[in-house]
Amino acid sequence: MSDINEEQTSVNAVLAQLDEAQQQSLQRLFEWLRIPSISADPAYDDACKEAADWAARQLEEIGFSTTVHPTTGKPMVVGHWRHPNPSARHVLFYGHYDVQPVDPLELWEKPPFEPHIAQNPLNGPVIVARGANDDKGQVMTFLEACRAWRDETGSLPVSISVFLEGEEESGSHSLPAFLKSHGDELKAEYVLVCDTTQWDRKTPAVTTSLRGIAHIELTLSGPKRDLHSGVFGGPALNPIRALTYVLGGLFDENGRIQIPGFYDGITDPTAEQIAQWQALNFDIAEFLGEAGLSQPAGEADRSPLEQLWSRPTAEINGIWGGYTGEGNKTVIPSEASAKLTFRLVPGQDPERVLDGFKAFVAERLPVDSRVTFKNAGGTAALSSDTTHPIMRQIASALHAEWNVAPVFMGCGASIPVVEAFKRELEMDTALVGFGLNDDGVHSPNEKFNVECFTKGARSWARIIGKLAE
Ligand code: BES
Ligand code: MN
Ligand code: MN
Repeated sequence: MSDINEEQTSVNAVLAQLDEAQQQSLQRLFEWLRIPSISADPAYDDACKEAADWAARQLEEIGFSTTVHPTTGKPMVVGHWRHPNPSARHVLFYGHYDVQPVDPLELWEKPPFEPHIAQNPLNGPVIVARGANDDKGQVMTFLEACRAWRDETGSLPVSISVFLEGEEESGSHSLPAFLKSHGDELKAEYVLVCDTTQWDRKTPAVTTSLRGIAHIELTLSGPKRDLHSGVFGGPALNPIRALTYVLGGLFDENGRIQIPGFYDGITDPTAEQIAQWQALNFDIAEFLGEAGLSQPAGEADRSPLEQLWSRPTAEINGIWGGYTGEGNKTVIPSEASAKLTFRLVPGQDPERVLDGFKAFVAERLPVDSRVTFKNAGGTAALSSDTTHPIMRQIASALHAEWNVAPVFMGCGASIPVVEAFKRELEMDTALVGFGLNDDGVHSPNEKFNVECFTKGARSWARIIGKLAE
């Protein structure tokens, strides 16, 4: 029997093992989901540590030699499984064990850290919990695939390192220093990340671009104290009016962002790319309809997929000031604030975008208002090399599992570490995820289809097998 046939026999046995152990796989995922590892809130620091330790124990059980590295923030989990053949391929898997905060809690049908299976009319059985998809459920598709390989064949067919972060949802503050100090330990031929979506329920995807992100907060101040809005109203500047005036100028009537130089350096997708996206027949009515919307609100002269994948955005994520409690309070507040993020595409530099925004604000600022900025930072966008042989192997493994070729798609969201892997460690990344747009990541009642979980694990089992060829 040739090596390839032997490999195929192994893959089939591993897939059978995954099917057989499906209930145990789900139980293991549920254990992890019960740990409330919300990285944004220091009240959950111990839970983050517990979630890191839990993942480290899983890795040890599967056979990885694993270290939980303390940082000034949340611990980093790193495990290695070295193939006896030193020339075997070596990949690094990245994921995150932290989750988003759960508010608004009252909109959850069951408590967010009590995972359970629910029947969803459109999706069938779904796993519901914070982190069910993002990213514990997705990470477990990979770990369960590794476990099945170990259980069935006693080994993994390639060298695999696993790197799990606990600050992805809250700014990855410890990441740059960790990549610098542990770069040698993390260095591999290629990175695999499971933190994105499929194309649709029946079609897998390889994500080939991520938008970057720039974030900033601003506070406009006016009067030196809150004022009586009758005594002072008229002549006195209201900072909320000033703030809404400034931010109200961000877009023109066609949705184009008005910050000078904002679009500098961006290139349009090629005709070939536009044609490929056209052929996907993206159903914008369904996409928006699921979220309770009907009309695209981005740049009027760009298709919805361009708006999502190849065009930058400006979003006001929060805005506050003045009195927001029950009843009236006739006040002119002394200040007003907002948080903004910009999604970036290749060619844009986060620093330059933020400088442009600051200049835009300064330009529109009314007399007697002052502005302060804080919490400014960001990461550039990334588009991946789709020609690497690993990409072809992944595509063929996905095709075999789903009986349909994967879509090479863009992604409007951001996973900052991917750009850092490229810049700091010269590693390319393959983004293969099993989420769906209606999973409600970051929202109440986050879910992950049981089918996405089980077929996701089977997909990784096949990919791992292919990488050995
Ligand atoms: N897993 C998501 C990114 C994602 C979501 C990819 C949905 C594809 C589909 C990731 O955990 C995330 O939330 N990223 C943040 C990063 C930000 C906080 C820097 C994002 O995109 O907002
Ligand atoms: Mn994620
Ligand atoms: Mn997330």
